[in-house]
Amino acid sequence: MKTTQIGNLTQPSSRLVYGCMRINGDNSPGAITQGKTAIRSAIDAGYNHFDHADIYGGGECERIFGQVMKESPELREQLIVTSKAGIRFANTPNEGDVGRYDFSKDYLIKQVEGSLERLNVEALDLFLLHRPDYLFDPQEVAETFEQLKRQGKVKHFGVSNFSPSQVSLLQAATTEKLIVNQVEINIHNISSFTDGTLDQCLQHDITPMAWCPIATVVYEAWGNTFSIDDVNRIHQEFDRQAQFYDCEKWIIAFAWLLKHPAKICPIVGSTNPQRIVAAKQALELNYSREDWYRLLQARNGQAVP
Ligand SMILES: NC(=O)c1ccc[n+]([C@@H]2O[C@H](COP(=O)([O-])OP(=O)(O)OC[C@H]3O[C@@H](n4cnc5c(N)ncnc54)[C@H](OP(=O)(O)O)[C@@H]3O)[C@@H](O)[C@H]2O)c1
Repeated sequence: MKTTQIGNLTQPSSRLVYGCMRINGDNSPGAITQGKTAIRSAIDAGYNHFDHADIYGGGECERIFGQVMKESPELREQLIVTSKAGIRFANTPNEGDVGRYDFSKDYLIKQVEGSLERLNVEALDLFLLHRPDYLFDPQEVAETFEQLKRQGKVKHFGVSNFSPSQVSLLQAATTEKLIVNQVEINIHNISSFTDGTLDQCLQHDITPMAWCPIATVVYEAWGNTFSIDDVNRIHQEFDRQAQFYDCEKWIIAFAWLLKHPAKICPIVGSTNPQRIVAAKQALELNYSREDWYRLLQARNGQAVP
């Protein structure tokens, strides 16, 4: 597995991060066993970085990972454990509560403590603010980070789904270096290429982590705007490239992200051990600039100006 240095984390991160959002399946005992197998398959395949959030599976995904940590505590020191908080679903904790974001100090600290308990780890290597809270006070977040660091609960900090100006705003308020911005990047959502997100990552040594990296190739992207004709045209180009590079087309979707100089770390969300291993093929492709632009052209339905 190729690695990359993320900020000043004490160990390099696998270039492919394993995303734990789906490891609880339908919460049945069989699904939970499958989720644990997925984690162990990822570790065996060389993934050392695991992405969580307090809300995944209502906490169940972190709990499954925590069971693996309990069964094999020797694994802990090899791994980078990331979790996120800040999203509060409707009807929680009380019936009638509205869906909202919450970066208030007491709430974030409580959520981190919950994650630590479920994950069965003493500290998060990396804690990310999940989605920008419209009401966030950068000073309050800075104090929250400082407290979490002082108490030994979190080692490093980052954000998710933040715009470049939101990153700058928070960075100006805190002495903690923001080392990750986890955003949606796939052939459907390319806004990070043009809205300054990846420029900022390059300029300030922030690692972009890409969620839903293979949307459109194997499932429909969030807020899909592609027509059937768009999808057919895009798939035709994926098919051509898959044949040329002698791999399945979803591998091309990873290669397309890996090509960017900002060193995007795609988050692999499959729970299928074969796919978890196969995703590594993308790291070995000698993927060309020409093919990168051919996919962009297929996506846009027109050549670049
Ligand atoms: N920060 C955020 O706001 C945010 C939002 C969403 C997700 N995330 C993170 O990003 C991670 C990755 O996102 P994701 O789970 O959407 O990842 P993904 O890797 O794009 O999608 C995984 C899904 O695609 C299926 N799949 C994969 N390869 C396939 C293939 N060749 N054919 C058919 N189906 C295939 C998987 O099914 P199988 O399991 O059967 O392979 C699984 O259901 C999450 O786990 C989470 O950690 C973050």
